[in-house]
Amino acid sequence: MLFALAVVGVGHVAAQENVITPVPAVVEWGEGSVDLGHDLKLYVDAPKDDALRLEAAAKDTGLRLSRVCRPARKGFVNLMVVEEGDVSALAAERNVAEGYVMDITAEGVSIKATSPAGLYYGLQSLKQIYEAHGALTTCHIVDAPRFGYRGVLIDVSRHFRTKEFLMRQIDQMAAMKMNRLHLHLTDAAGWRLQVDSYPRLTSYAAWRVPHTWKEWWYGERRHVEEGTEGAYGGYLTKAEARELVAYAADRYITIIPEIEMPGHSDEVLAAYPELRCTQLPERQGDLCIGKEATFAMMQSILDEVIEIFPSEYIHIGGDEASKSSWQECDDCRRRMAEEGLEDVDELQSYMIHRIEGYLNARGRQIIGWDEILQGGLAPNATVMSWRGEEGGIAAAAAGHDAIMSPHGYCYIDAPQDAPYSQPESIGGYLPLDKVYSYEPAPESMDAAVRDHIIGVQANLWAEFIPTDEHYEHMLWPRAIAVAEIGWSQPARRDFVLFRERAVRIVDDMLERGYTPFDLKNEIGNRPESLEPVAHLAVGKSVTYLHPSRYYAPQYAAQGDATLTDGLRGTWTYADKRWQGFLGRGGVDVVVDMGEVTHVESIAADFMQICGPGVFMPCRVEIWGSVDGEHYEPLADIEHEVVVDELPSFKSFGWEGSADVRYICYKAHRSAYSGFLFTDEIVVR
Ligand code: ACM
Ligand code: ZN
Repeated sequence: MLFALAVVGVGHVAAQENVITPVPAVVEWGEGSVDLGHDLKLYVDAPKDDALRLEAAAKDTGLRLSRVCRPARKGFVNLMVVEEGDVSALAAERNVAEGYVMDITAEGVSIKATSPAGLYYGLQSLKQIYEAHGALTTCHIVDAPRFGYRGVLIDVSRHFRTKEFLMRQIDQMAAMKMNRLHLHLTDAAGWRLQVDSYPRLTSYAAWRVPHTWKEWWYGERRHVEEGTEGAYGGYLTKAEARELVAYAADRYITIIPEIEMPGHSDEVLAAYPELRCTQLPERQGDLCIGKEATFAMMQSILDEVIEIFPSEYIHIGGDEASKSSWQECDDCRRRMAEEGLEDVDELQSYMIHRIEGYLNARGRQIIGWDEILQGGLAPNATVMSWRGEEGGIAAAAAGHDAIMSPHGYCYIDAPQDAPYSQPESIGGYLPLDKVYSYEPAPESMDAAVRDHIIGVQANLWAEFIPTDEHYEHMLWPRAIAVAEIGWSQPARRDFVLFRERAVRIVDDMLERGYTPFDLKNEIGNRPESLEPVAHLAVGKSVTYLHPSRYYAPQYAAQGDATLTDGLRGTWTYADKRWQGFLGRGGVDVVVDMGEVTHVESIAADFMQICGPGVFMPCRVEIWGSVDGEHYEPLADIEHEVVVDELPSFKSFGWEGSADVRYICYKAHRSAYSGFLFTDEIVVR
């Protein structure tokens, strides 16, 4: 087969050449496929454990291979760990250790790398070529990852996931050349790792009665003893965790365990109430930093954790502590006085410093969420930036390493398609193209800062994800976009080409029994939002009638221009197109058309997403006026607000015939306290 005759491709890349994900640094295709015969000879020159892993990965390509102890001259697959000088083509790459050089010729397949991981990644590319072409195709590939850290976070706390489920995700991650699996093992809704020194973490804190997180969280938030009738939950035994670590290591993936502290620790306090602050407010999830018992416990847990997980990094959480009890607690106050700590931020920082010291002394490094910057960053900590990129950039500027997982691009718990077509979720809208558009270390960033951005991670929180099927639906294909961001050079990234590959990967996953989101049936963004809308009120001034009925600052969108800027909202209210009104008065505005204008329709859309407290109005009034003093009623619409699970959108408007200069639009909030969101007052 000659590629010159290939089907017309996308852009300048023929479809048959668009087969490797993540897209490699350099691919030169040759004349076509080669016939090496049916039985190829596999030669592996790598340390023994790696050789076995690589043999398994080589056989997984689908090629018929028999292992030989000397390189063959014809019909071979040769895998060789070599010195850096022997793969000089890789010299330009930053992460040479995971890079590889692959040549497919009429004689055979040669993959060279400076590490077994590089050979493993070469085999993943080989497999993709073989599967796409049904043959081996001559080519020369030079490839290495842009970032050394290419991760996925799986939340097993909110809803427990088994070892088998995690292994299936590891398989797919490895195929996408990802190398870090961050397990969120502990949180309020359940502790998920056996700890011998604190057995109630799993005999009690791993179990609850309500299955869904939502019922549990909005209910009594109680845990129950293991074995109680109806108990729901689970945990990884040490043996299972070790098996998982080994399984991941065979695929060159490191599992990073996260043990949350000092916040998100409600379940620890439920199991060991003696670690609560004194004078504890209800439902307080922060460990007491004043008590030595807290350190004894965390250190003992970490001793057991590092025995199971060889990862250099241990994630210690650090996010979203409420810090509300520390101020009132005698023990915390004593600690602050003794250590000369100014405030609760410094108290948290004291704990993180101490835990870092403990782990550093045992040869490990900590990662923490960006809140660990508050009160002073521990000297060797790596920061995982989630609230945006600022934390990661600040850490990097201070010489620390940072991993980027900003929620606007990397929080794949948001729905990925029209929310009405998706399962109930945390809200928002994060389609594949938005994830893919993320750039963790742009040229505009200071070079010294860029050097400390070591990677990128997709985070999948499981509050609204009770089943394996749903979990895979959320994870794939968006995690593949993060894999490509982490691996491929920016100049090689092209969403049209990527999407074409992602559709094929999804189809292949569906065939293999996974339940990814079926990308080929994607509906896409809200149709109204795709093009600016032309109407009579575009650019006209809007007066908000009462300061207390103003839009909320965090959802101001484009300020006073929002409702007449011609831009309709997308599926998410966080897009700076929807304006959010929190006040009791709802929406109460006047549009000044500038002169008396003949109008035949006036309408505005609202959305309802009950989870985050966004509701339809219960009544809309529309009035018109010629002079701005005397208003005539045009419409008065009642609407019954009903709480439901799926997001919805609805237009409230008037149609008729009138000559007006001023239009008053009032939307009343229902008995449900929460937001009203509207995007545009469309006048025709
Ligand atoms: C986080 O999402 N609280 C890290
Ligand atoms: Zn305390």
